[in-house]
Amino acid sequence: MEDKMQKIVSLCKRRGFLFPSSEIYGGVEALWDYGPLGSLMKNNIKGEWIGRFVRQADNVVLIDATVLMHPDVWKASGHVENFTDPLIECRTCHGRFRADHMIDGRFVGQGEATDPNQCPSCGDRDFTPAKHFNLMFKTFLGPTEEQAHGTYLRPETAQSMFTNFKLVQEAMRLKLPFGIAQVGKAFRNEITTGDFTFRSREFEVAEIEFFVKPGQDEQWFNFWLDAWERFFLDLGLKKENLRRYEHPKGSLAHYSKRTVDIEYRFPFGWSELAGVASRTDFDLKQHSKFSGKDLSYFDEEKDSRYVPYVIEPTLGIERLMLALLIDAYEEVEGGRTITTKSTKEKEIVLKLAPKMAPIQVAVFPLLKNKPELVAKAKEVYRTLKNHLMCQYDEVGAIGRRYRRQDEIGTPFCATIDFESLKKNDVTIRNRDTMLQKRIPVDKIESLF
Ligand code: GAP
Repeated sequence: MEDKMQKIVSLCKRRGFLFPSSEIYGGVEALWDYGPLGSLMKNNIKGEWIGRFVRQADNVVLIDATVLMHPDVWKASGHVENFTDPLIECRTCHGRFRADHMIDGRFVGQGEATDPNQCPSCGDRDFTPAKHFNLMFKTFLGPTEEQAHGTYLRPETAQSMFTNFKLVQEAMRLKLPFGIAQVGKAFRNEITTGDFTFRSREFEVAEIEFFVKPGQDEQWFNFWLDAWERFFLDLGLKKENLRRYEHPKGSLAHYSKRTVDIEYRFPFGWSELAGVASRTDFDLKQHSKFSGKDLSYFDEEKDSRYVPYVIEPTLGIERLMLALLIDAYEEVEGGRTITTKSTKEKEIVLKLAPKMAPIQVAVFPLLKNKPELVAKAKEVYRTLKNHLMCQYDEVGAIGRRYRRQDEIGTPFCATIDFESLKKNDVTIRNRDTMLQKRIPVDKIESLF
């Protein structure tokens, strides 16, 4: 299974999905750049998420807040005090590890040790006691590096939904229950990195702070857990690769009354893809206390004022994209999935849902040396480009062109032959069934 990870990392680099950040300088640990195909796919994920949870919802609005916020936000939220991981250092090789991962046996990206008391890098057993290491990246506002001007890069988008709660509620005249959604960058100075984008130091989260009447939190918690899971299934993740993990009461985050993770079966083991947390009125009350501003809600029906409770569904865009790539990755021979060891040349197919694929349709002239076919193929390509993400390819035999598109998950290839010139149609080849059928050019969009 780890082998599959290596193959995906290499495919992503070779075909322009993901590159190590600052690659020409040797890369930077846990930082990744999205290449031409990766950024298209990432935008597809974000677009689907906004479509599902904002456009199609009646009571969820979107915001796009700053990464840098007032430093007091992080005191109020509890991040300055609590957003830490226990760090231990091997006295022999000076390798640094998360003590909780040593106990879990989850040495994500940390070598081969199997004994929790043994250093995963050098195998020695002499560690410093655990220290609490804050994961927030510190920075300064303005030209002086004084403590008074220090703040942090946000480690989650959630806090700006709380600080903007009143402004959004009043501007949009929202009544409970309602949600504020945001998708954007978060930064964490992770101690343990590795496993490709799974634990990045810069990543994107998509989360909703859903404000409800106190007492209705459990019912909305279950609603969001189901909605979140359904979203993953609708994007194409296989049911057998998803499961729920209820956090035991003793290990909940400082703000949480209940948290359930949705885990995905990554090649390195079941790990968190997303989560739903019941944050009670903790955050709004903390921000009221620290800012001195009233963040309560006036309930006209009840003629009373109270601080709403919050249900927070959250997901990591990097992890979702990685899971989609892993789930979609197949190796085939002549169109059939390989089940046994084989010596023949393998072909890669990414069976991504069409709405996730970076390129939706590839357009080919059957023959490159026939100007009338090339002209028609370019005309079809230019027409389709108005509505679909397309690629034009005339290089190599048609079979090779199909392989290149299969590898990046393109669901449909449209080939122009001599008949197309007369009938204004194309031969559409389906990536998964490999079946081919002729369809009129103006019907191609209806495939989606
Ligand atoms: N506001 C709640 C919150 O931030 P979290 O579980 O700490 O919750 C949210 O993070 C999501 O962000 C996770 O479910 C996970 O998918 C993703 N995530 C967390 N740390 C990450 C990292 N270092 N790299 C990539 N994704 C990460």
